[in-house]
This record gives sequence, C-alpha cells and structure tokens, in this order.
Amino acid sequence: MTVKQLQEEILNLKNQNDVIILAHYYQPIEIQEIADYVGDSLGLSRTAKEKASTEYIIFAGVDFMAETASIINQDKHVLIPNYESCCPMAAFLTPEMVREFKREYPGLPVVVYVNSTAAVKAESDICCTSANAVKIVENISQEFNVEAVLFGPDANLADYAEQFSNIETIKMPDKGHCYVHSQITVDDIKTVREKYPKAKLLVHPECIRIVRELADYVGSTARMYNYAKESSPEVNEFIIGTEIGLLERMAQDFPDKNFYLAKNKLVCYNMKKHNLELIRYLLENLNDKAFEVKVPSEIAKRAIKPIEKMLNFS
Ligand code: 13P
Ligand code: SF4
Repeated sequence: MTVKQLQEEILNLKNQNDVIILAHYYQPIEIQEIADYVGDSLGLSRTAKEKASTEYIIFAGVDFMAETASIINQDKHVLIPNYESCCPMAAFLTPEMVREFKREYPGLPVVVYVNSTAAVKAESDICCTSANAVKIVENISQEFNVEAVLFGPDANLADYAEQFSNIETIKMPDKGHCYVHSQITVDDIKTVREKYPKAKLLVHPECIRIVRELADYVGSTARMYNYAKESSPEVNEFIIGTEIGLLERMAQDFPDKNFYLAKNKLVCYNMKKHNLELIRYLLENLNDKAFEVKVPSEIAKRAIKPIEKMLNFS
C-alpha cells in the first residue's frame, strides 16, 4: 500500500468516527498531512481546549502534549499513537526537585515549561511554552511583586525569558536542555551562513544563547512558520534552527522559498515514533485503553490550574 492510499484510508476512518487528529510540526510530514490541526505547543493546547469538540482526540506529539490535552479535556478520550513517544527534557525536573527549590526560594513563583511531566506542572504556579515564556515571566513576577522566578526544566528557554523580560530566572536545574536544539553550535551556524549568505536564520528559543544571538529571528515553531509565511517575496531563503519536521512543512507550504537545516540530523527521534500505521490502528480501535492518555485525577486537578492560567494570560 502506498503512503497516499494509507492516508486516504485514515481520512475515511476519521470521517466515520467522532475524532480529531492534532499534530505537532515535528511529526513526520505524512502525519502532518492528515491532521486536522498542526501547530506549536501553545496552539495545540489552545485547540485542544477550544476546538476539540469530538469524543476522541488523536494526539501526534510527545507525551507531555497529549497529557496536557487530556488534563484540559477530562471528559474526552485522548489517544497517543505510540506511548513511547516522550520528551527527554521532562526528565530533568521531578516534583521533589521543584518542592526543594520552593523551600530554598520561598515566595518566588514557579514557572514550568509545558515540556514537563503532569506531576511537575501540579507543583507550579503557571505553565509556559516557547511562544509565551517572556510574557508569562513578566506577568507572574508582577503578580507576585518579585524580581525573580523559578523556571524549569529548560535552562536555555529560562535564559531567553530572562534576557527579554529583565526578570531573573532561577534555573531548575542548571543544565536542563533539549538534545536536538542544544547540539547547534556557533561553528555550525558559521558553516551554514557561508553556504547560504543571503538566508535569514530562524532558531528556536531552546538553542543556546550564543546561537540565538546570531539569529535574525528567535521564536516557537509556529512563529518561525509565520515569519517565513509573512516575509516579502524577495526574502526567500531561510536557515532553520529547529527540528526537521518544521522545515518539511514550510518547504511544502511555501514552494517559492528555500529552506536549509542549520545542521544535519536535527531530528527529534521521540517525535518520530508515531507513524501512519499506528494512527490507522487507533482509528480502528478507538477504545483500546492501552493508547489512552490519562493523568491520575489528583495530579490532573492540580495541574489544570497552571495550564489554564497560562491559556488565560496569552
Ligand atoms: P514549540 O512549542 O515551539 O512547538 O516547541 C515544542 C518543542 O518541543 C520544542 O522542542
Ligand atoms: Fe523534547 Fe527537544 Fe523533542 Fe522538543 S525537540 S520534544 S524539547 S526532545
């Protein structure tokens, strides 16, 4: 069976069932093509909250994204095609560590990146994504009337938020990072810039500061997408400093523009654990509990507050 045939089968099954498919920009392109909505973490959380009126939500993204959708849709069934798709960054921060930081810095608000476990979110005052981190840090520090916040688990996003909010972010922990973005070096950028001197460099806030400072634009995946979309026709070359899935999507949607990866192998292997066969299986077995994402209710009850606070702020 060809990819096209499999996609058609999936679309037919989807139309026969009360289901919506949400996908992140890092998903394999053939999954993005059959999704009802493709977006960044913020857009996916918003869509899960405001637009997902179906009984079933198939979530093609890593576990924390599906967990977030499940927490804000407790009356629905959120299914993940491969439950081994997880974000390793989340493992940098445990709820015990957050409690320890809170003891050490009493009175400071806790900002938790959505790339975290539900149990860590439950310990926080507010969540953030890469699209709203600066705004969230500004708002929550004003609300608490403080000049510093606790921020985890991504130390690079924390640094980015600190740089643009002028509020100190105490990193929980110092070294939390994403293996995809933190591998991009200044030398990589020099090499790719030499090759494509006219191209604009767009990078994700999860990149290290010295790389971010070389970029023409720093933003979430959806913001990078919109930057390329809204750029004038003469600006038609872009170097992309994030996971390859976004580049594939942009190359497909903007055929008059050229996209180059900041370095080879910018692949999030965790995001790539889903495939079309698994999605078809889910559509044929919507009640297979093995694929349903459920957060224990006592954690969900606490985690929903910082998630909703973030959605109300941004
Ligand atoms: P975005 O929210 O920018 O899509 O980022 C999610 C992510 O996992 C980045 O690595
Ligand atoms: Fe996690 Fe990095 Fe993959 Fe994003 S790209 S899901 S932060 S491992």
